[in-house]
Amino acid sequence: MTVELIERAQDYVRKKFENEYSGHDYFHTLRVFKMATRIAKNEGADVKIVQLAALLHDVDDRKLSPETYQNQTHARNFLRENGVEVDAIEHICQIIREISFGANNAAPTTKEGQCVQDADRLDAIGAIGIARAFAYGGHHNREMHSPDIKPNLNMTKEEYVKSESTTINHFYEKLFQLSALMNTQTAARLAQERDAYMQAFVAEFMDEWEGVR
Ligand code: ADP
Ligand code: NI
Repeated sequence: MTVELIERAQDYVRKKFENEYSGHDYFHTLRVFKMATRIAKNEGADVKIVQLAALLHDVDDRKLSPETYQNQTHARNFLRENGVEVDAIEHICQIIREISFGANNAAPTTKEGQCVQDADRLDAIGAIGIARAFAYGGHHNREMHSPDIKPNLNMTKEEYVKSESTTINHFYEKLFQLSALMNTQTAARLAQERDAYMQAFVAEFMDEWEGVR
């Protein structure tokens, strides 16, 4: 696996995510790629496997590409056409399956998968996470906040997918839980800082909402 392969994968996802503004855009993928690389180096994981899985982790996303979701067809074809060995293709596709939304919450089975999942989750918290949450809320016509709609912390997967809850509630229903779910030490440390930043943001938001600040 070569540097050119990583560059080709970057070009491939850039083209795939052109005109995609729902939160799974090219720059999300690029951030996950950079962070996953950093985590992998720190944790002694196979960097090339992690980089390819990070770059390809959303190209068969269930929401964006329901017809290829099951078999990771886009990722598989890209890797095959670029001469990646069968074992590596299988490992990368396994990582994509294991971290995809809708999979159960179990930790990915390999260290490489754990690095990619941590990087993907880190991108949902902190300053970027706040921005993505409100961008998602706007895209789906959600209210920012509504004092009468309380967060539901015990939703089933079906309820979660159908939920029309507010964006502030999304912090309680998902984002504040992510820092405790990191697989690696490297990500856990970063997640703690990002979580504190989000907590402070929501506290400030509520104070301003109530006019006490
Ligand atoms: P993933 O990137 O793990 O597939 P999702 O597709 O669930 O995650 O979400 C993409 C982005 O949109 C994340 O930053 C997530 O926090 C945000 N998001 C998802 N659902 C909601 C929601 N109900 N309200 C606000 N933001 C959301
Ligand atoms: Ni993602």
